[in-house]
Amino acid sequence: MRNNWWKKAVIYQVYPKSFCDSNADGIGDLNGIKSKLPYLKELGVDAIWLSPIYLSPQVDNGYDVQDYYKIDPMFGTNEEMYALIERAHEMGIKVIMDFVANHTSDQAYWFQESRKSRTNPYSDYYIWRDAGPNGEAPNNWGSNFGGSAWTWDETRQQYYLHYYASEQPDLNWENPKVRQAIYDVMKFWKEKGVDGWRLDVITSISKDTNFPDNPQPLTTSNQQNGPRMHEFLHELNKNVFTPYDMMTVGEAPASKAADASLLVDPKREELDMVFTFEHMHIDRKENDINGRWALQKPNFVELKSTLSEWQKQLRDRGWNALYFENHDRARVISRWGNDTKYRYESATAFATVLHGLQGTPFIYQGEEIGMTNADYSLADYDDIELKGNYQFFVKEQKTISEADFLKAVGKVSRDHARTPMQWNVSKNAGFSEATPWLKVNSNYKEINVDADRLSTKSIFKYYQKLIQLRHREEILTKGSYELLLADHPSLFVYRRKLKDKTWLVVANLTDTTQTFNVSEFIKGDYKFILKNYAKPESSPALRPFEAYIIEY
Ligand code: GLC
Ligand code: CA
Repeated sequence: MRNNWWKKAVIYQVYPKSFCDSNADGIGDLNGIKSKLPYLKELGVDAIWLSPIYLSPQVDNGYDVQDYYKIDPMFGTNEEMYALIERAHEMGIKVIMDFVANHTSDQAYWFQESRKSRTNPYSDYYIWRDAGPNGEAPNNWGSNFGGSAWTWDETRQQYYLHYYASEQPDLNWENPKVRQAIYDVMKFWKEKGVDGWRLDVITSISKDTNFPDNPQPLTTSNQQNGPRMHEFLHELNKNVFTPYDMMTVGEAPASKAADASLLVDPKREELDMVFTFEHMHIDRKENDINGRWALQKPNFVELKSTLSEWQKQLRDRGWNALYFENHDRARVISRWGNDTKYRYESATAFATVLHGLQGTPFIYQGEEIGMTNADYSLADYDDIELKGNYQFFVKEQKTISEADFLKAVGKVSRDHARTPMQWNVSKNAGFSEATPWLKVNSNYKEINVDADRLSTKSIFKYYQKLIQLRHREEILTKGSYELLLADHPSLFVYRRKLKDKTWLVVANLTDTTQTFNVSEFIKGDYKFILKNYAKPESSPALRPFEAYIIEY
């Protein structure tokens, strides 16, 4: 029997490299995380998800795993990880690890062996293909980090497939030995106490083994929902998730609500939840060759319709994972809100609409104090995606100008979420006594945990309340959902209902006052459950980023 604890939970994502450095080498680590468990306990979260901490050459910040059984010495030792799990459990906090199952590092033993010959025991652990008649790659697939998805290997005299960097070869899930090896790793960590998995790009594991060309060369349209994906996930579930009772949330970049309803339908025994990208693309031009760098003004009508579709499709048939931020996303207030004049208001407004939904909310480190995008110049950025895409789109393909690219980078680069956590006003924001691996945001003297918690407008305290509501109020986990004012470009308003209790969740997602008359939706008395402006407005309007939940 599964214990569905996560349905009443709020989960906090830690990016270990940037959370807290305990030994003054400029890199966050496990003992640093352990020292901050009391902070997380006070916030009230039920579980932490750690981005990868396995041995890794760090080409893609740990999403290139060299050894799944070993903690990278930069983060600590295996014993320190076991101690962190134990301490977290003593405090009633569960621990979710990140599993990168689509690919490994090229430094992994499996790959080192695999590339040696076509006949060794690991030869079929990765996806190898002969060159075309003129030495060209087997097909026109592109990598997410720019250029071809195939790299030639001199020793083996074949190409290997990589959806990401050439240092991240894709595993061959067609090979039952690969699948078994992955179950073994998962069982190992379960034995150490790990409670669940965030599964990195899990919808990419099955490939079309005919390797047909994509309509557009060097694009990635082939990567999602391959022919055997559901079969592989079901097998994973039967071997590990159900028997060992592990929670799962899979990264599912291209999933629409209808796809997700297959992935997370409990009867099908695949995953518990998925992270969609759909609602995060409301500021991206559709089908543009420049992908995440082709920006437009956020379309909140689309945000509402997407989130509502997911609420509807997964109701009584699966469960939603709710998020606006993670280590691949910029800060939501810098992207869609206002990170200066209305920083508190916009942070709490986006939090209100997200945490009012049915599903499991995820908070990304720093989101709970309203951290903002970095104020970097190009040389300060570190991310391989940005560097690869710059080379590819700006320098080689010339499909976007340098100026437009840099403008987009300032808005949506992954590094905005990866800047060191801002704890206090001391040197390096209290993150480390040494120079951090990535530059601290220069606004840390105003924006940090200590300052926020002393402020009368504390974002942290607002999150505490949202988390308490999630634990206490069944209406949040079980209540029905109905979107109101679906076509309104600025307001996000919806109704939740359970038995004789009704809640109205209301937010203005813009920095201008909007006409809004509560009495159009409610007859009679009501009370505020939560609000982000101290005094209610007397006129029928919502001030910039005003948000509240009322009960009636
Ligand atoms: C996922 C991760 C991202 C990583 C990629 C390749 O999208 O979240 O950080 O670069 O997979 O592993
Ligand atoms: Ca350290």
